[in-house]
Amino acid sequence: MLQLSPLHPTLQKELEEHFAVVAPQDLAAHKDKIAAIFVFVSPGVDEALISSLPSLKVVGNCAVGYNHVDLGACRQAGIRVGYTPNILNDATADIGWTLLLATARRVPEGDAICRHPNTTTFDSTWFGAQVSRTTLGIIGMGRIGLEVAARARGFKMEVLYHNRHRCSPEVEESVGGTYVASLEELLGRSNHVILVAPANPSTYHMMGRRQFAAMKPTATFINISRGSLVDQDALTEALQAGTIAAAGLDVTDPEPLPRDHPLLRLSNVVLMPHVGSATLLTRQEMLRLTIRNITAALQGGDMPCEVTPNITTPKQ
Ligand code: GLV
Repeated sequence: MLQLSPLHPTLQKELEEHFAVVAPQDLAAHKDKIAAIFVFVSPGVDEALISSLPSLKVVGNCAVGYNHVDLGACRQAGIRVGYTPNILNDATADIGWTLLLATARRVPEGDAICRHPNTTTFDSTWFGAQVSRTTLGIIGMGRIGLEVAARARGFKMEVLYHNRHRCSPEVEESVGGTYVASLEELLGRSNHVILVAPANPSTYHMMGRRQFAAMKPTATFINISRGSLVDQDALTEALQAGTIAAAGLDVTDPEPLPRDHPLLRLSNVVLMPHVGSATLLTRQEMLRLTIRNITAALQGGDMPCEVTPNITTPKQ
Protein backbone atom coordinates (compact mmCIF):
# COMPACT_ATOMS: atom_id res chain seq x y z
CA MET A 1 0.00 0.00 0.00
CA LEU A 2 1.12 3.54 -0.81
CA GLN A 3 0.55 5.80 2.21
CA LEU A 4 0.23 9.39 1.00
CA SER A 5 -0.77 11.08 4.28
CA PRO A 6 1.05 10.72 7.61
CA LEU A 7 -0.74 9.24 10.63
CA HIS A 8 -0.54 9.65 14.41
CA PRO A 9 1.91 6.99 15.72
CA THR A 10 -0.86 4.89 17.33
CA LEU A 11 -2.77 4.82 14.07
CA GLN A 12 0.35 4.23 11.99
CA LYS A 13 1.00 1.07 13.99
CA GLU A 14 -2.54 -0.10 13.33
CA LEU A 15 -2.28 0.52 9.58
CA GLU A 16 1.01 -1.38 9.44
CA GLU A 17 -0.58 -4.36 11.23
CA HIS A 18 -2.81 -4.74 8.16
CA PHE A 19 -0.70 -3.71 5.19
CA ALA A 20 2.88 -3.49 3.95
CA VAL A 21 3.15 0.27 3.80
CA VAL A 22 5.26 2.16 1.25
CA ALA A 23 6.07 5.86 1.77
CA PRO A 24 5.96 8.24 -1.24
CA GLN A 25 9.73 8.66 -1.21
CA ASP A 26 10.15 4.87 -1.66
CA LEU A 27 7.51 4.57 -4.37
CA ALA A 28 9.86 4.09 -7.34
CA ALA A 29 11.08 0.71 -6.07
CA HIS A 30 7.53 -0.61 -5.42
CA LYS A 31 5.45 1.00 -8.19
CA ASP A 32 4.41 -2.22 -9.87
CA LYS A 33 3.14 -3.85 -6.67
CA ILE A 34 1.06 -1.05 -5.15
CA ALA A 35 -2.55 -2.33 -4.92
CA ALA A 36 -3.95 0.32 -2.59
CA ILE A 37 -3.50 4.01 -1.75
CA PHE A 38 -4.16 5.43 1.70
CA VAL A 39 -4.90 9.16 1.76
CA PHE A 40 -6.45 11.72 4.12
CA VAL A 41 -7.73 15.09 2.78
CA SER A 42 -4.45 15.76 0.98
CA PRO A 43 -2.41 15.37 -1.14
CA GLY A 44 -4.52 14.95 -4.26
CA VAL A 45 -4.82 11.58 -5.97
CA ASP A 46 -4.61 12.56 -9.62
CA GLU A 47 -4.69 10.89 -13.01
CA ALA A 48 -0.88 10.88 -13.28
CA LEU A 49 -0.48 8.94 -10.03
CA ILE A 50 -3.33 6.53 -10.80
CA SER A 51 -2.01 5.70 -14.26
CA SER A 52 1.52 5.17 -12.92
CA LEU A 53 0.41 2.29 -10.64
CA PRO A 54 -0.42 -0.79 -12.79
CA SER A 55 -1.58 -2.98 -9.87
CA LEU A 56 -3.74 -0.33 -8.18
CA LYS A 57 -7.21 -1.57 -7.17
CA VAL A 58 -8.46 0.83 -4.50
CA VAL A 59 -8.05 4.29 -3.02
CA GLY A 60 -8.78 4.22 0.72
CA ASN A 61 -9.79 7.82 1.35
CA CYS A 62 -9.72 8.31 5.12
CA ALA A 63 -12.13 11.29 5.00
CA VAL A 64 -15.75 11.98 4.16
CA GLY A 65 -14.83 14.57 1.49
CA TYR A 66 -13.32 13.09 -1.67
CA ASN A 67 -12.89 16.21 -3.80
CA HIS A 68 -9.10 15.64 -3.79
CA VAL A 69 -9.48 12.25 -5.53
CA ASP A 70 -9.89 12.27 -9.32
CA LEU A 71 -12.98 10.07 -9.45
CA GLY A 72 -13.18 10.20 -13.25
CA ALA A 73 -9.63 8.85 -13.57
CA CYS A 74 -10.39 6.17 -10.95
CA ARG A 75 -13.54 5.07 -12.74
CA GLN A 76 -11.78 4.94 -16.08
CA ALA A 77 -9.00 2.78 -14.63
CA GLY A 78 -11.46 0.55 -12.69
CA ILE A 79 -10.15 1.75 -9.34
CA ARG A 80 -12.62 1.68 -6.45
CA VAL A 81 -12.71 4.50 -3.89
CA GLY A 82 -13.68 4.17 -0.23
CA TYR A 83 -14.57 7.02 2.15
CA THR A 84 -15.56 7.48 5.79
CA PRO A 85 -18.98 9.11 6.22
CA ASN A 86 -20.94 9.30 9.49
CA ILE A 87 -18.28 8.42 12.05
CA LEU A 88 -16.87 11.94 11.98
CA ASN A 89 -20.22 13.75 12.21
CA ASP A 90 -19.95 14.44 15.94
CA ALA A 91 -16.33 15.60 15.97
CA THR A 92 -16.90 17.83 12.93
CA ALA A 93 -20.07 19.35 14.39
CA ASP A 94 -18.11 19.93 17.60
CA ILE A 95 -15.41 21.88 15.74
CA GLY A 96 -18.14 23.91 14.02
CA TRP A 97 -19.52 24.87 17.40
CA THR A 98 -16.05 25.49 18.80
CA LEU A 99 -15.40 27.95 15.97
CA LEU A 100 -18.84 29.52 16.22
CA LEU A 101 -18.44 30.23 19.91
CA ALA A 102 -14.78 31.28 19.62
CA THR A 103 -15.58 33.63 16.74
CA ALA A 104 -18.72 35.15 18.23
CA ARG A 105 -17.24 35.55 21.71
CA ARG A 106 -13.79 36.52 20.36
CA VAL A 107 -11.85 33.86 22.26
CA PRO A 108 -8.43 34.36 20.58
CA GLU A 109 -8.62 38.15 21.12
CA GLY A 110 -9.67 37.66 24.75
CA ASP A 111 -6.83 35.21 25.27
CA ALA A 112 -4.38 37.76 23.84
CA ILE A 113 -5.71 40.47 26.17
CA CYS A 114 -5.21 38.22 29.20
CA ARG A 115 -1.61 37.42 28.19
CA HIS A 116 -0.56 40.92 27.05
CA PRO A 117 2.23 42.36 29.27
CA ASN A 118 0.49 45.77 29.38
CA THR A 119 -2.85 44.42 30.58
CA THR A 120 -3.52 45.73 34.10
CA THR A 121 -7.33 46.03 34.05
CA PHE A 122 -10.08 44.42 32.00
CA ASP A 123 -12.25 46.62 29.76
CA SER A 124 -15.91 46.33 30.74
CA THR A 125 -16.98 47.69 27.32
CA TRP A 126 -15.35 44.83 25.39
CA PHE A 127 -18.12 42.62 23.93
CA GLY A 128 -18.61 39.57 21.81
CA ALA A 129 -21.73 38.60 19.88
CA GLN A 130 -24.68 36.85 21.52
CA VAL A 131 -25.07 33.18 20.58
CA SER A 132 -27.85 31.77 22.77
CA ARG A 133 -31.39 32.76 21.76
CA THR A 134 -30.26 34.02 18.33
CA THR A 135 -30.77 32.55 14.84
CA LEU A 136 -28.42 29.99 13.30
CA GLY A 137 -28.41 29.50 9.52
CA ILE A 138 -27.06 26.15 8.36
CA ILE A 139 -26.07 25.79 4.71
CA GLY A 140 -26.08 22.06 3.90
CA MET A 141 -28.31 19.86 6.05
CA GLY A 142 -26.58 16.53 5.52
CA ARG A 143 -25.23 14.22 8.19
CA ILE A 144 -22.95 16.84 9.76
CA GLY A 145 -25.43 19.69 9.35
CA LEU A 146 -27.98 17.68 11.35
CA GLU A 147 -25.51 17.26 14.21
CA VAL A 148 -24.76 21.00 14.14
CA ALA A 149 -28.51 21.66 14.33
CA ALA A 150 -29.02 19.18 17.17
CA ARG A 151 -26.42 21.05 19.26
CA ALA A 152 -28.21 24.38 18.67
CA ARG A 153 -31.10 23.21 20.84
CA GLY A 154 -28.90 23.58 23.92
CA PHE A 155 -28.34 27.20 22.93
CA LYS A 156 -32.08 27.83 22.54
CA MET A 157 -31.52 29.01 18.97
CA GLU A 158 -33.90 29.28 16.07
CA VAL A 159 -32.42 27.05 13.35
CA LEU A 160 -32.87 27.83 9.66
CA TYR A 161 -31.39 25.63 6.98
CA HIS A 162 -30.82 25.74 3.26
CA ASN A 163 -30.17 22.53 1.35
CA ARG A 164 -30.49 21.11 -2.13
CA HIS A 165 -33.41 19.01 -0.92
CA ARG A 166 -35.79 19.77 1.91
CA CYS A 167 -35.53 17.26 4.78
CA SER A 168 -38.55 15.18 5.77
CA PRO A 169 -40.92 16.70 8.34
CA GLU A 170 -39.73 14.07 10.86
CA VAL A 171 -36.08 15.08 10.42
CA GLU A 172 -36.97 18.78 10.59
CA GLU A 173 -38.87 18.19 13.78
CA SER A 174 -36.12 16.08 15.35
CA VAL A 175 -33.61 18.94 15.07
CA GLY A 176 -36.08 21.83 15.15
CA GLY A 177 -34.92 23.24 11.79
CA THR A 178 -36.92 25.41 9.37
CA TYR A 179 -36.22 25.08 5.65
CA VAL A 180 -35.48 28.29 3.77
CA ALA A 181 -35.55 27.81 -0.01
CA SER A 182 -33.62 30.99 -0.76
CA LEU A 183 -29.99 31.10 0.38
CA GLU A 184 -30.05 34.92 0.44
CA GLU A 185 -33.11 34.89 2.69
CA LEU A 186 -31.39 32.51 5.13
CA LEU A 187 -28.29 34.74 5.12
CA GLY A 188 -30.35 37.85 5.82
CA ARG A 189 -32.23 36.28 8.74
CA SER A 190 -29.30 34.58 10.51
CA ASN A 191 -27.06 35.92 13.29
CA HIS A 192 -24.61 33.10 12.72
CA VAL A 193 -24.14 31.22 9.45
CA ILE A 194 -22.37 27.87 9.21
CA LEU A 195 -21.37 26.26 5.93
CA VAL A 196 -21.48 22.46 5.90
CA ALA A 197 -22.29 21.69 2.25
CA PRO A 198 -20.07 19.27 0.28
CA ALA A 199 -17.49 20.45 -2.25
CA ASN A 200 -18.57 19.81 -5.83
CA PRO A 201 -18.84 21.87 -9.02
CA SER A 202 -22.29 23.18 -8.03
CA THR A 203 -21.11 24.51 -4.65
CA TYR A 204 -17.86 26.12 -5.89
CA HIS A 205 -17.74 29.74 -4.61
CA MET A 206 -21.38 29.52 -3.48
CA MET A 207 -20.49 32.16 -0.87
CA GLY A 208 -19.43 35.22 -2.87
CA ARG A 209 -19.88 39.02 -2.79
CA ARG A 210 -23.66 38.88 -3.23
CA GLN A 211 -24.06 36.32 -0.47
CA PHE A 212 -21.86 38.16 2.06
CA ALA A 213 -23.72 41.38 1.22
CA ALA A 214 -26.97 39.60 2.11
CA MET A 215 -25.72 38.83 5.64
CA LYS A 216 -26.25 41.06 8.67
CA PRO A 217 -23.27 43.34 9.45
CA THR A 218 -23.29 41.84 12.96
CA ALA A 219 -23.28 38.24 11.72
CA THR A 220 -20.52 35.64 11.93
CA PHE A 221 -19.68 33.18 9.17
CA ILE A 222 -18.25 29.72 9.93
CA ASN A 223 -16.88 27.27 7.35
CA ILE A 224 -16.26 23.61 8.26
CA SER A 225 -16.76 22.30 4.73
CA ARG A 226 -14.08 23.10 2.15
CA GLY A 227 -12.39 26.37 1.25
CA SER A 228 -13.47 26.05 -2.38
CA LEU A 229 -17.09 26.85 -1.46
CA VAL A 230 -16.07 30.41 -0.54
CA ASP A 231 -14.81 33.22 -2.75
CA GLN A 232 -12.00 34.12 -0.37
CA ASP A 233 -11.41 37.58 -1.89
CA ALA A 234 -15.07 38.37 -1.33
CA LEU A 235 -14.86 37.07 2.25
CA THR A 236 -11.73 39.12 2.95
CA GLU A 237 -13.40 42.27 1.60
CA ALA A 238 -16.56 41.61 3.62
CA LEU A 239 -14.51 41.22 6.82
CA GLN A 240 -12.40 44.30 6.11
CA ALA A 241 -15.38 46.48 5.17
CA GLY A 242 -17.58 45.35 8.08
CA THR A 243 -20.14 43.81 5.70
CA ILE A 244 -20.08 40.92 8.18
CA ALA A 245 -18.63 40.94 11.70
CA ALA A 246 -16.32 37.93 11.85
CA ALA A 247 -15.44 34.54 10.40
CA GLY A 248 -14.30 31.21 11.81
CA LEU A 249 -12.60 28.95 9.29
CA ASP A 250 -11.51 25.35 9.70
CA VAL A 251 -10.91 25.19 5.96
CA THR A 252 -9.40 27.55 3.40
CA ASP A 253 -8.23 27.39 -0.20
CA PRO A 254 -5.36 26.58 -0.31
CA GLU A 255 -4.42 24.97 3.01
CA PRO A 256 -2.50 26.42 4.65
CA LEU A 257 -3.01 29.94 3.31
CA PRO A 258 0.06 31.68 1.86
CA ARG A 259 1.87 33.37 4.76
CA ASP A 260 1.13 36.84 3.37
CA HIS A 261 -2.61 36.24 2.87
CA PRO A 262 -4.69 39.20 4.14
CA LEU A 263 -7.05 36.91 6.09
CA LEU A 264 -4.14 36.07 8.40
CA ARG A 265 -3.86 39.72 9.42
CA LEU A 266 -7.50 40.20 10.41
CA SER A 267 -8.35 40.06 14.12
CA ASN A 268 -11.98 39.20 13.33
CA VAL A 269 -10.97 35.84 11.84
CA VAL A 270 -10.48 32.66 13.86
CA LEU A 271 -8.58 29.94 12.05
CA MET A 272 -8.07 26.24 12.66
CA PRO A 273 -5.86 23.89 10.58
CA HIS A 274 -8.62 21.67 9.06
CA VAL A 275 -9.23 19.62 12.21
CA GLY A 276 -12.93 18.74 12.00
CA SER A 277 -12.27 15.05 12.60
CA ALA A 278 -8.97 15.44 14.47
CA THR A 279 -9.55 13.55 17.71
CA LEU A 280 -7.82 10.26 18.36
CA LEU A 281 -11.10 8.39 18.78
CA THR A 282 -12.63 9.71 15.56
CA ARG A 283 -9.48 9.26 13.50
CA GLN A 284 -9.15 5.72 14.88
CA GLU A 285 -12.70 4.93 13.76
CA MET A 286 -12.02 6.51 10.37
CA LEU A 287 -8.84 4.47 9.98
CA ARG A 288 -10.62 1.23 10.89
CA LEU A 289 -13.34 1.91 8.34
CA THR A 290 -10.67 2.73 5.75
CA ILE A 291 -8.92 -0.57 6.51
CA ARG A 292 -12.23 -2.41 6.08
CA ASN A 293 -12.88 -0.55 2.82
CA ILE A 294 -9.46 -1.39 1.40
CA THR A 295 -9.53 -5.02 2.53
CA ALA A 296 -12.97 -5.57 1.02
CA ALA A 297 -11.91 -4.03 -2.30
CA LEU A 298 -8.72 -6.08 -2.44
CA GLN A 299 -10.81 -9.21 -1.89
CA GLY A 300 -13.27 -8.10 -4.58
CA GLY A 301 -16.11 -7.82 -2.06
CA ASP A 302 -18.61 -5.18 -0.97
CA MET A 303 -16.91 -2.16 0.54
CA PRO A 304 -18.65 -0.82 3.68
CA CYS A 305 -18.50 2.73 2.27
CA GLU A 306 -17.72 3.08 -1.41
CA VAL A 307 -17.91 6.26 -3.44
CA THR A 308 -20.24 5.34 -6.27
CA PRO A 309 -21.88 7.56 -8.92
CA ASN A 310 -25.10 7.51 -6.88
CA ILE A 311 -24.13 7.36 -3.24
CA THR A 312 -27.19 6.83 -1.11
CA THR A 313 -26.95 5.63 2.47
CA PRO A 314 -23.57 4.16 3.32
CA LYS A 315 -23.80 0.69 4.85
CA GLN A 316 -20.88 0.73 7.26
C1 GLV B 1 -12.54 16.15 6.50
O1 GLV B 1 -12.51 17.27 6.10
C2 GLV B 1 -13.11 15.07 5.78
O2 GLV B 1 -13.55 15.26 4.65
O3 GLV B 1 -13.15 13.97 6.33
